[in-house]
Amino acid sequence: MPKSWKVAVIGSGDMGKQHVKGWQAAGHEVVSITDIDASRASALAQECGVPTVYQDYKEAIAEPNVEIVSICLPLAFHAPVTIFAAEAGKHIFSEKPLARNPEESAAMEAAVRKAGVRFGLGFQRNLSQGVHKAKELVQAGTLGRPVFFECDSVAEIRPKRIMHDANGNMGPLMDLGCHYFIMWQTVFQSTPKSVYARGKVLAKERPELAHIQELAIDSAVVTVEYESGDVGVFTVTWGMPPKFRMKAREDRLFGPKGGITGGFNNNPSKLNLYIEDGVEELPLVTYKSLHKEQFDRFVQALERQGEPAAAFREGNDILLLTLAIFQSIETGEVIDFKAFCKETSR
Ligand SMILES: NC(=O)c1ccc[n+]([C@@H]2O[C@H](COP(=O)([O-])OP(=O)(O)OC[C@H]3O[C@@H](n4cnc5c(N)ncnc54)[C@H](O)[C@@H]3O)[C@@H](O)[C@H]2O)c1
Repeated sequence: MPKSWKVAVIGSGDMGKQHVKGWQAAGHEVVSITDIDASRASALAQECGVPTVYQDYKEAIAEPNVEIVSICLPLAFHAPVTIFAAEAGKHIFSEKPLARNPEESAAMEAAVRKAGVRFGLGFQRNLSQGVHKAKELVQAGTLGRPVFFECDSVAEIRPKRIMHDANGNMGPLMDLGCHYFIMWQTVFQSTPKSVYARGKVLAKERPELAHIQELAIDSAVVTVEYESGDVGVFTVTWGMPPKFRMKAREDRLFGPKGGITGGFNNNPSKLNLYIEDGVEELPLVTYKSLHKEQFDRFVQALERQGEPAAAFREGNDILLLTLAIFQSIETGEVIDFKAFCKETSR
């Protein structure tokens, strides 16, 4: 009989709901839900049959029956809650991004190591079969090398205003870009070499954001060249007016011999492969829940002493790339990624 782990979910917003359902689908027991908004936590607890609700994460984590703490809070809380949970001897699964800066991530990693607990990071979109099919085809040379991977996202200003706060979730380059940056790294099997980005705050005049002291970059074009010679391009805006109807373009990956289009990291049921003058549909397994999938893998890592699908290494790689992108936007320069990492980790 597989072990059913006891999980405390912290945060009952969009991701909190996905985590509660994902843990339950994976056969584990969500013993409590915590949110400063008690009515939100209670509504989710009632919907999902979870017995206990807290407003204070410290109380929830201190409960002796809790084995795993599942963090679904805004970015600024990832570090303090991870550190508190590690010091309480609990395993931790946190939503992405890892942290706001290398100081926070180093403190998290040190606490986890000292406590001898395990840590997993929520990059569930990178488990999509579309990412792994793209990796397989690129690594087999089906498209030729180098390849360009163009990703695109267009959205109205985010209803969760904290997403626009430079001191909150830090805008789309931090909050959303991480899904694309880890996908590039996976598909190219390489590390960034140089980074160039231009970014603006297109929504700076919007009255809905007037209460935010420092607005994050909401729109950017990012170009990252990898050591492999492959190039990732990310065009993003969260600066459009409410109910804006223009949509993002489909993601595209192409090299000298062919190309692929599709929603690579969005749990797609197919990709389109273009070789010479032909086009072929590549059917893929669609997971019922990528969250269940990521929790299955985290528990396997706990039970067999293996590695989770993503943890500090992946989180730090993506954090450093994001910070290099911010530096390029600020300075207008091309950033030498190796030199940037050396400087930043000093
Ligand atoms: N993996 C993904 O695809 C994905 C998608 C969306 C969001 N996320 C990440 O998940 C995290 C949460 O995002 P979300 O969309 O669920 O946000 P959300 O705003 O929907 O939910 C966050 C919840 O945390 C609660 N909260 C805030 N501070 C708290 C505290 N100190 N103690 C207890 N509760 C507190 C809020 O009341 C809110 O209910 C972010 O890091 C975000 O980047 C990941």
